[in-house]
Order: sequence, then structure tokens, then C-alpha cells
Amino acid sequence: MCGIVGIINSKDLKLKAINVLNKLEYRGYDSAGVSFLAKNKIKTITEVGKIAELSKSLSSDSYSSFESVIGHTRWATHGIVSKNNAHPFSNQKISLVCNGIIENYNELKLKYLKSHKKIIESDTETIFLVLNELSKEIPDNKKLIKKLVSIIKGHYAFLIYFSNTQEVFSLKSGSPLSVGKSSNGIYFSSDSSALNEYVDNIYHLKDGDIIRVLGQDTSFLNSKNVNFEPLKKTSNEFSKGDFKHFMIKEIHEQPLVIKNTQKYYDVDYFLDFRNKLKDVSKELDSFVFVGCGTAYHACLIAKYYFEKYTDIDASCEYASELRYKKISSKKRSIYVFISQSGETMDTLMALKYVKSKGYNTIVVTNSLESTMVREANITLPTYAMKEIGVASTKAFTCQLLALANLSIEVGLVRKNINKKEYLQLKKDLRNIPAKLIKILKNSSYIEKVVNLLSSSKACYFIARNIVFPIALEGSLKLKEISYMHSEGFAGGEMKHGPIALIDKDVLSICLNPKNELYEKSVSNCEEILARGGKVIVFSSKSLGSKKNLLEILMPKENYIDTPFIYTLPLQLISYYFALNEGTDIDQPRNLAKSVTVE
Ligand code: G6P
Repeated sequence: MCGIVGIINSKDLKLKAINVLNKLEYRGYDSAGVSFLAKNKIKTITEVGKIAELSKSLSSDSYSSFESVIGHTRWATHGIVSKNNAHPFSNQKISLVCNGIIENYNELKLKYLKSHKKIIESDTETIFLVLNELSKEIPDNKKLIKKLVSIIKGHYAFLIYFSNTQEVFSLKSGSPLSVGKSSNGIYFSSDSSALNEYVDNIYHLKDGDIIRVLGQDTSFLNSKNVNFEPLKKTSNEFSKGDFKHFMIKEIHEQPLVIKNTQKYYDVDYFLDFRNKLKDVSKELDSFVFVGCGTAYHACLIAKYYFEKYTDIDASCEYASELRYKKISSKKRSIYVFISQSGETMDTLMALKYVKSKGYNTIVVTNSLESTMVREANITLPTYAMKEIGVASTKAFTCQLLALANLSIEVGLVRKNINKKEYLQLKKDLRNIPAKLIKILKNSSYIEKVVNLLSSSKACYFIARNIVFPIALEGSLKLKEISYMHSEGFAGGEMKHGPIALIDKDVLSICLNPKNELYEKSVSNCEEILARGGKVIVFSSKSLGSKKNLLEILMPKENYIDTPFIYTLPLQLISYYFALNEGTDIDQPRNLAKSVTVE
């Protein structure tokens, strides 16, 4: 996690650093800091909280006597949220920022910092102090950096400045870091899209890369031929437009991004992909879907799609579990990694692990510049455009779209569905945006739902079959942004424990699409009502009016579009309830959008 920026040999440093850090804030917002850099001069300013706090703390000075700046926005891993633990760590000789985790920092503390009296809480502060110690014996900065790389273990991206020589070193192992060049300086960022305004060409550092910057010169300490590529730019990504929050803007963007993504699949992507699939999918035993958080819920939906439209086994794994699991290299499986950012550490490590066992890998991602794209055999892109709100909305529904398309392509290749069925399913997918627009227009129930949530101590989401993962996702959304206690349950499991939680102060939200399990889902609602619980039911078939029941009618669904239809209202009610609670919706406490640490 965390975001780092470096702007070397440039002007308007304050403005540019704050601008880039604002764009990196989704990576963590516990504290922030910058070091302005010049020959024999380092000025560091840090602040607890968001970039806005740091911005206020920067004086009206333009810092024009400095040539460069490095900065950081933090998601705390080691050490509490405090000014002391905020990056950059600096003195008048060295300043450094880090994104990642140094796993052997306790070992290094014991070896190099025995005489230090100060309590050192964070791994990065340890590295800063170790570097200072080592510099006493190794005056050459290049050698010093190589020594540092040889003793640290972990996943990291560093920017390190030496004021005696004005050299900046960037190191990468595991955490993302990109560098761009322009006539106005050299720019580093954890996320290349944050550099859109400043550079045209970009290089994504590879693990093990060490770049030394001196003036306008960049040299690679470990490789000779490095290709800078044109930076793919998109406009308006970081603007809320007329919306109050990114989250609600992104919820409303879903019909458009789903339409665009489906169009791309129809006229381009899958035409070519089908050929690739022919080779791999005929000989396969199983598909394994892997992800974290919301992306894991997309994995669960993929399993339902694959069970419905193909004859191939499908299973799901949390990336954080899979990466430490024994997997046999004998099974003929393809692993599909789902990640909005393409950078989530657990998912990335699971991908590398699975690849090392010789499996084919597909990544479904919204970030075509990401590390997972560079690692996986096949990329299945989503075109949700940049998602800024920490709680995933449009990226999730675009993942569902990618997986729905993938399942029917595999079904067609393996002759599990015929061409006519396939074409009908494609048509159903193309109709999703219209249904979502209808749901967005008819949101008169929201106020009632918000009132019911406000008067409840907990909220449970209950559903069966393909909407069960949507119950989990609805519950995750609610707890992420409103902090209300919430769980998602499979309808059939209620009687095996969770029903004990039901009383008059508990709200249950049931998702009852009109499918073959409709009557069973109705029974779940009845059983809760019979125990004095309050129920909201989202359904395309009316249950009739009952005491303690609020019924919200949904458009008619097909199997393939059901998850989309039932996701949208849950996103809306979470958003409006959180708005009512006054929480920080786009940047909920303790969370970050891109979890690049373990
Ligand atoms: C974090 C975010 C979630 C997201 C998860 C996986 O926990 O807060 O919204 O679902 O990471 O992220 P990915 O980028 O891999 O989809």
C-alpha cells in the first residue's frame, strides 16, 4: 500500500507534488509528507491525515530554491498513525520514502542499530537509520544502495535522495513504481496514471531494477536496454463531475461502462480470444477463480456462470489462502485472477506462485498498465475507467460482465451451449445497461431503507444461488462505508445458526429473484418475520403486503443478468445510508483501494 511520488529537476514542485499525491491518495490516507531537495539541503514536512492536511501545512513559500521533491501518502502497516511514522524519513543527508513492507527489519535493527536509544516503530524508519549507519563506512552512494538491496527482504518500492551528490535512487521489488521523462524533469509514481499531465513516455520498473537519477540523466544499475513506452492517457478520471462523491458517480457510470465493455467484447476481444481459448479450454479439467475482497465475490459469481453454461469444474480461492497452499501440478486447470487494480499483493503473489507450477493464467483487470498484466499469460480487460472510490462498484460489475462472457465463450467452444443459446445470452448481456438505467431512475425506496437501517443495530443480507455472492457483496459494501455491522448468509443456512441473531432490532435484506428457488427464499423471509425481525425484500415478484416487510420491485431478470440487477440497489442503499451517517464515503477508515502489502 501507500503511494510514492518523485519529481526530479523540475519547477512548481509544491503544486505538482500535491497534485500527484492527491491522485495516489486512494492507496492510503493515514499520513502524508514531502521532502523538498537541493544540494546539501533537505526540507521535510509531514502531517497526519489526508493530503489536504499536508497541503495546509505547506507554507506559502513556493520552495523555488529546491530542484526536486519526493513525497508519500501512507497506509499504516508497522507503527501507529503518527507524525513520527510518516514518510519521508530524512535528515540533512538522506531522505527516503517507501511503499511496501521490509520483512526482516527487526533482524536489521538488531544487527545495525544496537546503540540506538530511540524506539523505532516502523520498518521504513529502520531502513533509513540503517542506511545512515552504512553510509559512514560506504561513502559511494551506488555501492551503498547495492549493499542495502543485498540486506533487505520484503516487497518494496523506494525513492532515496542523497543531498551530498544530489543523486536519487529508485529501487523496486514487488511494489509498483513507474518513471516518466519529460523536458520538465523526471517523474516517479506508484501509479503511472497519476503522471498523465506531466509525461508522455513511461517505464514500469521491474523487480530488481535500480535507477539512479542525477540531473536530467537516468542510468539503470542493473539493465542496459530499457524501453520507455507511450503512456496511455484517459481524461477526466480524477474528477467527481456534478456528484458529491466518486462512489455515487461510479455507481451511475455503470450502464455506460458496461455498455462500452460489452461492445469491446462483441466486436473485438472475444473474436480473437475464442481462438486462444480453443487451444486451452478443450483439454481442461477445471477453472479456478482467485481474488480478494469484492473481486473474490466476482469469483463466486463466475463459479455459478461456469456451472450453468459449461461442463467444466469451477472453484474459487481467496488469493491470500491460495498463495500458501499446496497445489498439485498434475491437474489440467486454468487459473483466472480477478483484480481491479492488478496490483493487490496477495493476488499478484498467488498468480506468480501458480505460474511457477506451470499453469496457464488469465487476469481480469481494469488496469492495463498493471503488474498482473505483465505476469499473466492472457489478459481479459474491463473498461470501467478509473475507479477512485475505495469501495468497488463499477469495477465489480464490469468483472461480472467479463466472467459472464468468458463462461459462455467456454461453453460454446466446448459445445455445452449451442450458437442460438449463445447469441441469446449475448443479447441479454447487451440489455443490462437499459435495466440498470431503469433501477437508477426508480430509487424512491431509498429514503425508507435508510430510515430502517438507521433504526437497526445490524443488517443481514440473505440470498440463494447466483445472488448469494451478491448478498456477501452487499454486506461488504455496507460495512466498508457505513461501519454498520453486517453479514451475508446463504438462505438455506439461516436455520443452522444465523436465525438466532434475529430480533426486532435487526434488519434482514433478502434478495429473491424469480427463479426456481423463489419459494424457498420467500420461506426465509417468512421465518424472519415470524420471529419479529424487519425485512426488506428485493424481488421481481411481489410477496404481497405484510407487517414489518418493505418490498422493492426489481426488473425481470434472466439468469445471466441477475447479479447485475441485484448489485445496483445494494450499492445505492449503502451509499445513501453512509451519507446519512456522515462517514468518509470515498475513503473509509482503515481501508485503501489498492492493497499492495500482505
Ligand atoms: C481492497 C479494496 C476492495 C477490493 C480489494 C481487491 O480491499 O478496498 O474494494 O475489492 O482490495 O482489490 P483488487 O484491486 O485486487 O480488485
